[in-house]
Amino acid sequence: MEAKEFFLFLTDKTTITSFIGVIVICMVGMWMKKKKKRRNSLPPGTLGQPLVGETIRFLRAFKLNKIDEFISERVVAYGPVFKTRLFGQPTVVFTGPAGNQFWLFNDGKLFHGNARGPHRAILGVNSLLDRNGEDHKRMRAAFMNFFAPESLKKVVGNMDSVVRRHLDDFWEGRDLVHAVPLMKFQTFSVTCNVLFNLQDKDQVEELRDHFTVAAEGIYSFPLNFPGSRLHRALRARSHIDRILSSLIARRKDDILEGRESSYPDLISTLLKITNNEGKPLSDQELKDNIVVLTIAGYETTAMTLALMCKLLAANPHCFHRIAQESEEIVSGKCGEEQLTWEDVQRMKYLWMVVQETLRIIPPVSGIFRQAIMDIVYEGYTIPKGWALYWSNYSTVYLEDLFREPHKFNPTRFEGSYRLPPYSFMPFGGGPRMCPGNEYAKLEILITMHHLVKRYRWISEDPEEPIVRNPLCFPARGLPLKLSSIQKA
Ligand code: HEM
Repeated sequence: MEAKEFFLFLTDKTTITSFIGVIVICMVGMWMKKKKKRRNSLPPGTLGQPLVGETIRFLRAFKLNKIDEFISERVVAYGPVFKTRLFGQPTVVFTGPAGNQFWLFNDGKLFHGNARGPHRAILGVNSLLDRNGEDHKRMRAAFMNFFAPESLKKVVGNMDSVVRRHLDDFWEGRDLVHAVPLMKFQTFSVTCNVLFNLQDKDQVEELRDHFTVAAEGIYSFPLNFPGSRLHRALRARSHIDRILSSLIARRKDDILEGRESSYPDLISTLLKITNNEGKPLSDQELKDNIVVLTIAGYETTAMTLALMCKLLAANPHCFHRIAQESEEIVSGKCGEEQLTWEDVQRMKYLWMVVQETLRIIPPVSGIFRQAIMDIVYEGYTIPKGWALYWSNYSTVYLEDLFREPHKFNPTRFEGSYRLPPYSFMPFGGGPRMCPGNEYAKLEILITMHHLVKRYRWISEDPEEPIVRNPLCFPARGLPLKLSSIQKA
Protein backbone atom coordinates (compact mmCIF):
# COMPACT_ATOMS: atom_id res chain seq x y z
CA MET A 1 0.00 0.00 0.00
CA GLU A 2 1.34 3.36 -0.92
CA ALA A 3 1.60 6.18 1.60
CA LYS A 4 -1.34 8.08 0.11
CA GLU A 5 -3.59 4.99 0.09
CA PHE A 6 -2.54 4.18 3.65
CA PHE A 7 -3.43 7.74 4.69
CA LEU A 8 -6.84 7.45 2.99
CA PHE A 9 -7.37 4.09 4.72
CA LEU A 10 -6.56 5.61 8.11
CA THR A 11 -8.88 8.58 7.65
CA ASP A 12 -11.72 6.46 6.30
CA LYS A 13 -14.79 6.89 8.59
CA THR A 14 -15.38 3.16 9.03
CA THR A 15 -11.76 2.55 9.94
CA ILE A 16 -11.82 5.36 12.52
CA THR A 17 -15.03 4.03 14.05
CA SER A 18 -13.66 0.49 14.18
CA PHE A 19 -10.39 1.74 15.64
CA ILE A 20 -12.20 3.67 18.41
CA GLY A 21 -14.44 0.66 18.98
CA VAL A 22 -11.42 -1.62 19.48
CA ILE A 23 -9.86 0.85 21.92
CA VAL A 24 -13.11 1.16 23.90
CA ILE A 25 -13.52 -2.63 24.02
CA CYS A 26 -9.91 -3.03 25.20
CA MET A 27 -10.39 -0.38 27.89
CA VAL A 28 -13.67 -1.89 29.10
CA GLY A 29 -12.00 -5.33 29.08
CA MET A 30 -9.08 -4.03 31.12
CA TRP A 31 -11.43 -2.23 33.54
CA MET A 32 -13.52 -5.38 34.00
CA LYS A 33 -10.40 -7.48 34.48
CA LYS A 34 -9.13 -5.05 37.10
CA LYS A 35 -12.54 -5.02 38.79
CA LYS A 36 -12.68 -8.82 38.77
CA LYS A 37 -9.15 -9.03 40.14
CA ARG A 38 -10.07 -6.55 42.85
CA ARG A 39 -13.27 -8.45 43.63
CA ASN A 40 -11.31 -11.70 43.80
CA SER A 41 -8.81 -10.17 46.19
CA LEU A 42 -11.43 -8.72 48.54
CA PRO A 43 -11.42 -10.35 51.97
CA PRO A 44 -13.83 -13.31 52.25
CA GLY A 45 -17.26 -12.85 53.82
CA THR A 46 -20.68 -11.73 52.74
CA LEU A 47 -21.99 -8.25 52.04
CA GLY A 48 -25.57 -9.50 52.37
CA GLN A 49 -28.50 -7.46 51.04
CA PRO A 50 -27.77 -4.05 49.49
CA LEU A 51 -27.92 -1.28 52.07
CA VAL A 52 -28.99 -3.43 55.06
CA GLY A 53 -26.31 -6.11 54.70
CA GLU A 54 -25.69 -7.67 58.12
CA THR A 55 -26.67 -4.56 60.07
CA ILE A 56 -29.69 -6.14 61.74
CA ARG A 57 -27.69 -9.17 62.88
CA PHE A 58 -24.90 -6.91 64.06
CA LEU A 59 -27.29 -4.65 65.99
CA ARG A 60 -29.02 -7.66 67.54
CA ALA A 61 -25.67 -9.13 68.64
CA PHE A 62 -24.64 -5.69 69.81
CA LYS A 63 -27.75 -5.21 71.96
CA LEU A 64 -27.39 -8.63 73.59
CA ASN A 65 -23.68 -7.99 74.21
CA LYS A 66 -22.81 -10.86 71.89
CA ILE A 67 -20.49 -9.06 69.48
CA ASP A 68 -17.85 -11.70 70.30
CA GLU A 69 -20.21 -14.34 68.85
CA PHE A 70 -20.94 -12.24 65.74
CA ILE A 71 -17.19 -11.98 65.20
CA SER A 72 -16.09 -15.49 66.14
CA GLU A 73 -18.74 -17.13 63.90
CA ARG A 74 -17.32 -15.22 60.93
CA VAL A 75 -13.70 -15.80 61.94
CA VAL A 76 -14.44 -19.55 61.92
CA ALA A 77 -16.12 -19.27 58.51
CA TYR A 78 -13.80 -16.80 56.77
CA GLY A 79 -10.64 -16.28 58.81
CA PRO A 80 -9.27 -13.37 60.86
CA VAL A 81 -10.14 -10.67 58.33
CA PHE A 82 -13.56 -10.67 56.70
CA LYS A 83 -15.98 -8.41 54.90
CA THR A 84 -19.57 -7.62 55.76
CA ARG A 85 -21.97 -4.70 55.23
CA LEU A 86 -22.87 -2.56 58.24
CA PHE A 87 -24.98 0.60 58.35
CA GLY A 88 -25.13 0.64 54.54
CA GLN A 89 -21.34 0.49 54.08
CA PRO A 90 -19.20 -2.42 52.87
CA THR A 91 -17.03 -3.04 55.91
CA VAL A 92 -13.90 -5.08 56.64
CA VAL A 93 -13.48 -6.45 60.16
CA PHE A 94 -9.98 -6.91 61.61
CA THR A 95 -9.53 -9.43 64.42
CA GLY A 96 -6.87 -11.01 66.63
CA PRO A 97 -3.56 -9.56 67.82
CA ALA A 98 -2.34 -9.18 64.22
CA GLY A 99 -5.46 -7.16 63.37
CA ASN A 100 -4.90 -5.04 66.50
CA GLN A 101 -1.28 -4.43 65.57
CA PHE A 102 -2.17 -3.45 62.00
CA TRP A 103 -4.89 -1.14 63.30
CA LEU A 104 -2.62 0.53 65.79
CA PHE A 105 0.21 1.27 63.38
CA ASN A 106 -1.87 2.38 60.41
CA ASP A 107 -4.58 4.48 61.96
CA GLY A 108 -4.42 7.92 60.37
CA LYS A 109 -2.12 6.65 57.58
CA LEU A 110 -4.23 4.14 55.60
CA PHE A 111 -7.58 4.87 57.21
CA HIS A 112 -9.05 7.59 59.36
CA GLY A 113 -11.97 8.49 61.52
CA ASN A 114 -15.04 9.34 59.56
CA ALA A 115 -18.15 9.40 61.68
CA ARG A 116 -21.22 8.92 59.57
CA GLY A 117 -24.95 8.36 59.86
CA PRO A 118 -26.28 8.69 63.38
CA HIS A 119 -22.77 9.24 64.83
CA ARG A 120 -22.17 12.27 62.67
CA ALA A 121 -25.65 13.73 63.07
CA ILE A 122 -25.62 13.48 66.86
CA LEU A 123 -22.00 14.20 67.69
CA GLY A 124 -21.55 16.92 65.05
CA VAL A 125 -18.84 17.25 62.42
CA ASN A 126 -16.49 19.59 64.27
CA SER A 127 -15.16 17.46 67.07
CA LEU A 128 -11.92 15.59 67.65
CA LEU A 129 -13.56 12.46 66.24
CA ASP A 130 -14.01 14.06 62.83
CA ARG A 131 -10.55 15.66 62.65
CA ASN A 132 -7.64 14.00 60.95
CA GLY A 133 -3.91 14.56 60.50
CA GLU A 134 -2.38 17.74 61.90
CA ASP A 135 -5.75 19.20 62.81
CA HIS A 136 -6.51 16.15 64.96
CA LYS A 137 -3.04 16.27 66.56
CA ARG A 138 -3.41 19.93 67.54
CA MET A 139 -6.86 19.54 69.02
CA ARG A 140 -5.88 16.35 70.80
CA ALA A 141 -2.83 18.06 72.31
CA ALA A 142 -5.19 20.50 74.08
CA PHE A 143 -7.13 17.56 75.52
CA MET A 144 -3.96 15.73 76.52
CA ASN A 145 -2.70 18.82 78.27
CA PHE A 146 -5.84 18.82 80.34
CA PHE A 147 -5.60 15.08 81.11
CA ALA A 148 -1.84 14.96 81.83
CA PRO A 149 -0.87 13.64 85.30
CA GLU A 150 0.25 17.09 86.45
CA SER A 151 -3.22 18.49 85.69
CA LEU A 152 -5.03 15.44 87.04
CA LYS A 153 -3.22 15.75 90.37
CA LYS A 154 -5.10 19.04 90.80
CA VAL A 155 -8.53 17.46 90.35
CA VAL A 156 -8.20 14.59 92.87
CA GLY A 157 -9.58 16.63 95.78
CA ASN A 158 -12.56 17.94 93.79
CA MET A 159 -13.35 14.51 92.33
CA ASP A 160 -13.10 12.90 95.76
CA SER A 161 -15.54 15.46 97.25
CA VAL A 162 -18.11 14.99 94.48
CA VAL A 163 -17.93 11.19 94.88
CA ARG A 164 -18.34 11.30 98.65
CA ARG A 165 -21.19 13.79 98.41
CA HIS A 166 -22.91 11.52 95.91
CA LEU A 167 -22.56 8.51 98.23
CA ASP A 168 -23.93 10.54 101.16
CA ASP A 169 -26.93 11.67 99.10
CA PHE A 170 -27.84 8.52 97.18
CA TRP A 171 -26.31 5.44 98.82
CA GLU A 172 -26.18 6.20 102.53
CA GLY A 173 -28.98 4.64 104.61
CA ARG A 174 -30.39 2.66 101.66
CA ASP A 175 -30.98 -1.11 101.83
CA LEU A 176 -31.47 -1.41 98.09
CA VAL A 177 -29.81 0.66 95.35
CA HIS A 178 -29.78 0.42 91.56
CA ALA A 179 -26.12 0.82 90.70
CA VAL A 180 -26.50 1.61 86.97
CA PRO A 181 -28.51 4.85 87.24
CA LEU A 182 -26.58 5.89 90.34
CA MET A 183 -23.20 5.42 88.67
CA LYS A 184 -24.37 7.35 85.62
CA PHE A 185 -25.60 10.12 87.86
CA GLN A 186 -22.30 10.21 89.73
CA THR A 187 -19.97 10.20 86.72
CA PHE A 188 -22.11 12.81 84.99
CA SER A 189 -21.91 15.04 88.08
CA VAL A 190 -18.14 14.55 88.20
CA THR A 191 -17.90 15.40 84.48
CA CYS A 192 -19.93 18.59 84.92
CA ASN A 193 -18.09 19.56 88.06
CA VAL A 194 -14.51 18.72 87.13
CA LEU A 195 -14.54 19.31 83.38
CA PHE A 196 -17.07 22.13 83.01
CA ASN A 197 -17.12 23.69 86.48
CA LEU A 198 -20.92 23.34 86.44
CA GLN A 199 -22.49 22.81 89.83
CA ASP A 200 -26.11 23.89 89.41
CA LYS A 201 -27.96 20.64 90.27
CA ASP A 202 -31.02 21.38 88.10
CA GLN A 203 -28.92 22.21 85.07
CA VAL A 204 -26.76 19.11 85.61
CA GLU A 205 -29.89 16.97 85.78
CA GLU A 206 -31.46 18.51 82.67
CA LEU A 207 -28.24 18.05 80.71
CA ARG A 208 -27.94 14.46 81.91
CA ASP A 209 -31.42 13.56 80.63
CA HIS A 210 -30.62 15.02 77.20
CA PHE A 211 -27.24 13.30 77.04
CA THR A 212 -28.81 9.94 77.86
CA VAL A 213 -31.24 10.24 74.93
CA ALA A 214 -28.53 11.55 72.58
CA ALA A 215 -26.16 8.67 73.46
CA GLU A 216 -28.89 6.10 72.82
CA GLY A 217 -29.31 7.39 69.27
CA ILE A 218 -25.69 6.82 68.28
CA TYR A 219 -26.13 3.16 67.38
CA SER A 220 -29.67 3.53 66.12
CA PHE A 221 -30.88 2.67 62.63
CA PRO A 222 -30.22 5.72 60.40
CA LEU A 223 -33.89 6.67 59.95
CA ASN A 224 -35.03 10.08 61.09
CA PHE A 225 -38.80 10.36 61.51
CA PRO A 226 -40.88 11.61 64.45
CA GLY A 227 -40.79 8.97 67.18
CA SER A 228 -37.64 7.22 65.88
CA ARG A 229 -34.69 6.88 68.20
CA LEU A 230 -32.52 9.01 65.94
CA HIS A 231 -35.15 11.74 65.86
CA ARG A 232 -35.35 11.81 69.66
CA ALA A 233 -31.54 11.88 69.90
CA LEU A 234 -31.31 14.84 67.50
CA ARG A 235 -33.86 16.78 69.50
CA ALA A 236 -31.90 16.04 72.66
CA ARG A 237 -28.75 17.30 70.93
CA SER A 238 -30.40 20.63 70.14
CA HIS A 239 -31.41 21.02 73.80
CA ILE A 240 -27.82 20.24 74.81
CA ASP A 241 -26.55 22.91 72.38
CA ARG A 242 -28.85 25.48 73.92
CA ILE A 243 -27.49 24.82 77.43
CA LEU A 244 -23.88 24.65 76.27
CA SER A 245 -24.21 27.96 74.41
CA SER A 246 -25.05 29.74 77.62
CA LEU A 247 -22.27 27.92 79.48
CA ILE A 248 -19.69 28.91 76.84
CA ALA A 249 -20.91 32.52 76.79
CA ARG A 250 -20.58 32.68 80.57
CA ARG A 251 -17.07 31.23 80.47
CA LYS A 252 -16.01 33.74 77.79
CA ASP A 253 -17.26 36.57 80.01
CA ASP A 254 -15.38 35.10 82.98
CA ILE A 255 -12.16 35.07 80.98
CA LEU A 256 -12.71 38.60 79.60
CA GLU A 257 -13.44 39.98 83.05
CA GLY A 258 -10.59 38.10 84.74
CA ARG A 259 -12.89 35.85 86.78
CA GLU A 260 -11.17 32.65 85.63
CA SER A 261 -10.93 30.14 88.47
CA SER A 262 -7.52 29.02 89.73
CA TYR A 263 -8.22 25.61 88.29
CA PRO A 264 -9.00 25.99 84.56
CA ASP A 265 -11.73 23.61 83.42
CA LEU A 266 -11.85 21.98 80.02
CA ILE A 267 -14.00 24.74 78.46
CA SER A 268 -11.41 27.37 79.40
CA THR A 269 -8.68 25.12 77.98
CA LEU A 270 -10.55 24.66 74.69
CA LEU A 271 -11.29 28.40 74.47
CA LYS A 272 -7.56 29.01 74.30
CA ILE A 273 -6.70 26.73 71.39
CA THR A 274 -6.71 27.94 67.80
CA ASN A 275 -7.35 26.27 64.45
CA ASN A 276 -5.00 26.01 61.45
CA GLU A 277 -5.51 29.68 60.60
CA GLY A 278 -4.75 30.78 64.14
CA LYS A 279 -8.44 31.46 64.88
CA PRO A 280 -10.05 30.29 68.12
CA LEU A 281 -12.48 27.39 67.91
CA SER A 282 -15.97 28.44 66.87
CA ASP A 283 -18.82 27.93 69.32
CA GLN A 284 -20.03 24.98 67.23
CA GLU A 285 -16.57 23.38 67.42
CA LEU A 286 -16.56 23.89 71.17
CA LYS A 287 -20.02 22.38 71.54
CA ASP A 288 -19.23 19.35 69.37
CA ASN A 289 -16.07 18.68 71.38
CA ILE A 290 -17.83 19.02 74.70
CA VAL A 291 -20.56 16.65 73.54
CA VAL A 292 -18.04 14.09 72.28
CA LEU A 293 -15.99 14.26 75.42
CA THR A 294 -19.00 13.95 77.70
CA ILE A 295 -20.50 11.04 75.77
CA ALA A 296 -17.11 9.34 75.44
CA GLY A 297 -16.36 9.83 79.11
CA TYR A 298 -19.21 9.57 81.54
CA GLU A 299 -21.11 6.47 80.53
CA THR A 300 -17.98 4.42 79.80
CA THR A 301 -16.75 5.16 83.31
CA ALA A 302 -20.18 4.64 84.88
CA MET A 303 -20.67 1.28 83.20
CA THR A 304 -17.21 0.10 84.22
CA LEU A 305 -18.08 0.99 87.81
CA ALA A 306 -21.47 -0.74 87.66
CA LEU A 307 -19.99 -3.87 86.09
CA MET A 308 -17.30 -3.93 88.76
CA CYS A 309 -20.01 -3.86 91.43
CA LYS A 310 -21.66 -6.84 89.73
CA LEU A 311 -18.43 -8.79 89.32
CA LEU A 312 -17.36 -8.09 92.90
CA ALA A 313 -20.71 -9.31 94.23
CA ALA A 314 -20.05 -12.58 92.39
CA ASN A 315 -16.41 -12.76 93.54
CA PRO A 316 -16.30 -12.06 97.30
CA HIS A 317 -12.63 -13.06 97.59
CA CYS A 318 -11.72 -10.13 95.27
CA PHE A 319 -13.97 -7.83 97.27
CA HIS A 320 -12.14 -8.93 100.41
CA ARG A 321 -8.71 -8.15 98.93
CA ILE A 322 -9.83 -4.67 97.84
CA ALA A 323 -11.25 -4.03 101.31
CA GLN A 324 -7.92 -5.02 102.87
CA GLU A 325 -5.99 -2.73 100.52
CA SER A 326 -8.40 0.16 101.23
CA GLU A 327 -8.02 -0.31 104.98
CA GLU A 328 -4.24 -0.17 104.67
CA ILE A 329 -4.49 3.08 102.72
CA VAL A 330 -6.93 4.60 105.22
CA SER A 331 -4.90 3.52 108.25
CA GLY A 332 -1.88 5.43 106.87
CA LYS A 333 -3.90 8.68 106.61
CA CYS A 334 -4.27 9.65 110.29
CA GLY A 335 -8.04 10.21 110.12
CA GLU A 336 -8.03 12.48 107.07
CA GLU A 337 -10.77 11.26 104.72
CA GLN A 338 -9.94 13.05 101.47
CA LEU A 339 -7.81 10.97 99.13
CA THR A 340 -4.61 12.30 97.59
CA TRP A 341 -2.89 11.47 94.30
CA GLU A 342 -0.35 9.37 96.27
CA ASP A 343 -3.15 7.35 97.95
CA VAL A 344 -4.60 6.53 94.55
CA GLN A 345 -1.20 5.30 93.31
CA ARG A 346 -1.23 2.72 96.13
CA MET A 347 -4.44 1.05 94.90
CA LYS A 348 -2.56 -1.67 93.04
CA TYR A 349 -4.93 -4.61 93.52
CA LEU A 350 -7.97 -2.43 92.85
CA TRP A 351 -6.40 -1.40 89.53
CA MET A 352 -6.00 -5.09 88.61
CA VAL A 353 -9.70 -5.57 89.29
CA VAL A 354 -10.51 -2.60 87.03
CA GLN A 355 -8.38 -4.04 84.22
CA GLU A 356 -9.96 -7.47 84.53
CA THR A 357 -13.40 -5.85 84.39
CA LEU A 358 -12.40 -3.98 81.23
CA ARG A 359 -11.15 -7.27 79.73
CA ILE A 360 -14.17 -9.42 80.58
CA ILE A 361 -16.69 -6.77 79.46
CA PRO A 362 -14.98 -4.05 77.40
CA PRO A 363 -17.19 -0.94 77.61
CA VAL A 364 -16.26 0.13 74.06
CA SER A 365 -16.93 -2.92 71.94
CA GLY A 366 -15.43 -1.61 68.69
CA ILE A 367 -14.55 1.28 66.43
CA PHE A 368 -15.24 2.22 62.80
CA ARG A 369 -12.85 3.94 60.39
CA GLN A 370 -12.76 4.61 56.62
CA ALA A 371 -10.06 3.53 54.13
CA ILE A 372 -8.43 6.60 52.54
CA MET A 373 -6.65 4.49 49.89
CA ASP A 374 -6.72 0.92 48.62
CA ILE A 375 -5.29 -1.11 51.49
CA VAL A 376 -3.45 -4.39 51.06
CA TYR A 377 -3.68 -6.58 54.17
CA GLU A 378 -2.86 -10.30 54.42
CA GLY A 379 -2.99 -10.56 50.61
CA TYR A 380 -6.44 -8.97 50.35
CA THR A 381 -7.26 -5.57 48.92
CA ILE A 382 -9.64 -3.31 50.81
CA PRO A 383 -10.93 -0.64 48.41
CA LYS A 384 -10.61 3.04 49.19
CA GLY A 385 -13.80 4.38 50.80
CA TRP A 386 -14.78 1.10 52.52
CA ALA A 387 -15.44 1.11 56.23
CA LEU A 388 -13.12 -0.76 58.62
CA TYR A 389 -14.14 -2.13 62.00
CA TRP A 390 -11.95 -3.11 64.92
CA SER A 391 -13.35 -4.82 67.99
CA ASN A 392 -12.08 -5.25 71.52
CA TYR A 393 -13.96 -8.54 71.58
CA SER A 394 -11.76 -10.18 68.98
CA THR A 395 -8.95 -10.96 71.45
CA VAL A 396 -10.17 -10.87 75.03
CA TYR A 397 -11.70 -14.36 75.04
CA LEU A 398 -8.97 -16.15 73.09
CA GLU A 399 -7.73 -19.18 75.08
CA ASP A 400 -4.17 -18.90 73.81
CA LEU A 401 -3.93 -15.29 75.02
CA PHE A 402 -5.86 -15.48 78.30
CA ARG A 403 -5.99 -18.71 80.28
CA GLU A 404 -9.60 -19.57 81.25
CA PRO A 405 -10.74 -16.40 79.47
CA HIS A 406 -14.29 -16.39 80.84
CA LYS A 407 -13.09 -16.57 84.44
CA PHE A 408 -12.87 -13.31 86.37
CA ASN A 409 -9.29 -13.37 87.59
CA PRO A 410 -7.70 -9.97 88.38
CA THR A 411 -4.37 -11.56 89.31
CA ARG A 412 -3.68 -12.26 85.64
CA PHE A 413 -2.57 -8.60 85.65
CA GLU A 414 -0.30 -9.13 88.66
CA GLY A 415 3.28 -7.78 88.90
CA SER A 416 5.67 -9.07 86.33
CA TYR A 417 3.13 -11.03 84.26
CA ARG A 418 3.34 -9.77 80.71
CA LEU A 419 0.26 -9.73 78.56
CA PRO A 420 0.79 -11.01 75.03
CA PRO A 421 1.36 -7.98 72.78
CA TYR A 422 -1.70 -6.40 71.13
CA SER A 423 -4.06 -8.60 73.11
CA PHE A 424 -5.68 -6.08 75.44
CA MET A 425 -6.66 -2.56 74.27
CA PRO A 426 -9.70 -1.42 76.27
CA PHE A 427 -8.79 2.21 75.61
CA GLY A 428 -7.89 1.64 71.95
CA GLY A 429 -4.37 2.46 70.77
CA GLY A 430 -2.34 4.56 68.36
CA PRO A 431 -3.02 8.22 67.61
CA ARG A 432 -6.64 7.98 68.76
CA MET A 433 -6.11 6.10 71.99
CA CYS A 434 -8.53 7.32 74.64
CA PRO A 435 -7.20 10.65 75.95
CA GLY A 436 -9.35 10.27 79.09
CA ASN A 437 -7.93 6.92 80.23
CA GLU A 438 -5.99 8.26 83.21
CA TYR A 439 -8.92 10.44 84.20
CA ALA A 440 -11.23 7.42 84.03
CA LYS A 441 -8.77 5.38 86.09
CA LEU A 442 -8.70 8.08 88.74
CA GLU A 443 -12.46 8.33 89.01
CA ILE A 444 -12.99 4.56 89.09
CA LEU A 445 -10.33 4.01 91.78
CA ILE A 446 -11.60 6.85 93.98
CA THR A 447 -15.23 5.69 93.70
CA MET A 448 -14.54 2.00 94.35
CA HIS A 449 -12.27 2.82 97.28
CA HIS A 450 -15.05 4.77 99.01
CA LEU A 451 -17.72 2.22 98.15
CA VAL A 452 -15.76 -0.73 99.50
CA LYS A 453 -14.73 1.25 102.56
CA ARG A 454 -18.36 2.04 103.42
CA TYR A 455 -20.51 -0.85 102.20
CA ARG A 456 -20.93 -4.53 101.48
CA TRP A 457 -23.41 -5.62 98.80
CA ILE A 458 -24.95 -8.63 97.13
CA SER A 459 -26.75 -8.77 93.78
CA GLU A 460 -30.50 -9.01 94.19
CA ASP A 461 -30.58 -10.69 90.78
CA PRO A 462 -27.31 -12.58 90.21
CA GLU A 463 -28.52 -13.88 86.82
CA GLU A 464 -29.30 -10.40 85.50
CA PRO A 465 -28.19 -10.30 81.84
CA ILE A 466 -25.84 -7.71 80.42
CA VAL A 467 -27.04 -5.72 77.40
CA ARG A 468 -25.67 -2.86 75.27
CA ASN A 469 -27.19 0.48 74.33
CA PRO A 470 -24.60 1.46 73.09
CA LEU A 471 -22.44 0.65 76.15
CA CYS A 472 -22.95 -2.51 78.15
CA PHE A 473 -24.85 -2.55 81.42
CA PRO A 474 -26.84 -4.96 83.59
CA ALA A 475 -30.30 -5.00 82.00
CA ARG A 476 -32.34 -4.30 85.14
CA GLY A 477 -30.10 -1.54 86.44
CA LEU A 478 -28.18 -3.79 88.86
CA PRO A 479 -30.26 -3.86 92.04
CA LEU A 480 -27.89 -4.36 94.98
CA LYS A 481 -28.78 -5.20 98.58
CA LEU A 482 -26.63 -2.87 100.57
CA SER A 483 -25.37 -2.95 104.12
CA SER A 484 -23.09 -0.34 105.57
CA ILE A 485 -19.89 -1.52 107.26
CA GLN A 486 -20.94 0.06 110.56
CA LYS A 487 -24.17 -1.98 110.51
CA ALA A 488 -22.48 -5.21 109.52
C1 HEM B 1 -13.53 3.20 81.26
C2 HEM B 1 -13.65 4.32 80.60
C3 HEM B 1 -13.27 4.53 79.16
C4 HEM B 1 -13.03 3.63 78.16
C5 HEM B 1 -13.09 2.12 78.25
C6 HEM B 1 -12.71 4.38 76.97
C7 HEM B 1 -12.37 3.82 75.75
C8 HEM B 1 -12.10 4.54 74.62
C9 HEM B 1 -11.80 3.97 73.34
C10 HEM B 1 -11.71 2.48 73.04
C11 HEM B 1 -11.62 4.98 72.47
C12 HEM B 1 -11.40 4.89 70.99
C13 HEM B 1 -10.03 5.08 70.55
C14 HEM B 1 -10.00 5.02 69.04
O1 HEM B 1 -10.89 5.58 68.35
O2 HEM B 1 -9.10 4.38 68.57
C15 HEM B 1 -11.82 6.22 73.18
C16 HEM B 1 -11.72 7.46 72.59
C17 HEM B 1 -11.97 8.63 73.26
N1 HEM B 1 -12.22 8.75 74.61
FE1 HEM B 1 -12.38 7.25 75.95
N2 HEM B 1 -12.77 5.72 77.26
C18 HEM B 1 -13.09 5.85 78.58
C19 HEM B 1 -13.21 7.04 79.28
C20 HEM B 1 -13.06 8.28 78.75
C21 HEM B 1 -13.11 9.51 79.49
C22 HEM B 1 -13.32 9.60 81.00
C23 HEM B 1 -12.97 10.52 78.60
C24 HEM B 1 -12.96 12.01 78.83
C25 HEM B 1 -13.35 12.58 79.93
C26 HEM B 1 -12.80 9.93 77.28
C27 HEM B 1 -12.64 10.64 76.11
C28 HEM B 1 -12.40 10.08 74.88
C29 HEM B 1 -12.25 10.85 73.64
C30 HEM B 1 -12.38 12.37 73.49
C31 HEM B 1 -11.97 9.94 72.63
C32 HEM B 1 -11.69 10.26 71.15
C33 HEM B 1 -10.18 10.34 70.91
C34 HEM B 1 -9.75 10.69 69.50
O3 HEM B 1 -10.52 10.51 68.57
O4 HEM B 1 -8.60 11.14 69.36
N3 HEM B 1 -12.85 8.57 77.41
N4 HEM B 1 -12.11 5.93 74.50
